[in-house]
Amino acid sequence: MTKTIVSGITPSGNELHIGNYFGAVKPQIELQNEGHQTYYFIADLHALTTVKDKQTLESNIKNVVLDYLSLGLDPEKTIFFRQSDVPAHSQLSVVLTNFVTYGHMKRMHAFKDKLEKGAGEESINMGLFNYPILMAADILLYKPNGVPVGEDQRQHVEITRDIAENFNHAVNQDVFPLPEAYINKDVGRIIGTDGQRKMSKSLGNIISIFADENIIKDQIMGSYTDPNRKKATDPGTVEGNPVFLYHDLINQNTAEVQDLKNRYKEGAVGDVEVKQKLIAAHQAYFSTARAKRLELEQNIDQVNQILATGAAKATEVAKETIKEVYQAVGLRK
Ligand code: ADP
Ligand code: TRP
Repeated sequence: MTKTIVSGITPSGNELHIGNYFGAVKPQIELQNEGHQTYYFIADLHALTTVKDKQTLESNIKNVVLDYLSLGLDPEKTIFFRQSDVPAHSQLSVVLTNFVTYGHMKRMHAFKDKLEKGAGEESINMGLFNYPILMAADILLYKPNGVPVGEDQRQHVEITRDIAENFNHAVNQDVFPLPEAYINKDVGRIIGTDGQRKMSKSLGNIISIFADENIIKDQIMGSYTDPNRKKATDPGTVEGNPVFLYHDLINQNTAEVQDLKNRYKEGAVGDVEVKQKLIAAHQAYFSTARAKRLELEQNIDQVNQILATGAAKATEVAKETIKEVYQAVGLRK
């Protein structure tokens, strides 16, 4: 069965990392290539919650667009666009604010995390507070079956279902089917190079995809491994060791990975060799995407055309949903 699939990425930073790639982008591209109707967008309105500088926002958007296209997003197959180019996202968001309570919104992670990091409730901007409502609008506009995202977005898809249910119930009509979160349990939460927290651009524990090779080398060489291992001759632990998790994701040479794991457990290989092999594997894995990106950078007009075409196609579908919603609530006959 052909499914409808929706997902987005917020351009709150200026590059995608391997956590984003394996946790979200790769599964999204696979769904695209399996022939489903996919809608993927750059959630630029969402970025306003944290990015306050105009040049930074413009640069983030451009970079995330180029990253996505380089990693295999095919505009012939996917409707690819910028959220702000389709005003229906904002329109639906305004309607949906009325179908979720303040109490429910207060339990959302993004808001609670900010509070835990010491921000006073009084200082949190309403864009951040309302973030899940705009995200629900992003999703429900296209009535998808599934939303491929990383684990950290699960709660947002759940509230989307709750909002859809509340809305359907209130208007006594099944306007919105309930979407499912597609989260892969092995790669939905990739650990950062600090070995402690999920890989995240705001935590400085990432491995980049498109950065300068020297930066990627430093990121990999600086990664946490087995803290109990003092010398290369000490037996080491492979399970849960971030460097081996990355090898499993990136290194296509499975015999090499197995050999490194065996020698690591025996104390017959140093961390440096394990990491150097990971650097080489990273270069091999992402070389096509990196070449594609250089090519796209020279063709920005073509990239802008892709986004314009995507926005026009998304608008056609989204407008129909707005019409249906306006009719259901009594704003239109
Ligand atoms: P970041 O935490 O780096 O700011 P985003 O919040 O922009 O990442 O996430 C973009 C997409 O990538 C989302 O679908 C998110 O769930 C996924 N994602 C982010 N970090 C990880 C990770 N460490 N492991 C797996 N998926 C992730
Ligand atoms: N909140 C998501 C993130 O931080 C981005 C996003 C916005 C999204 N709207 C969405 C993801 C709709 C899936 C569906 O990455």
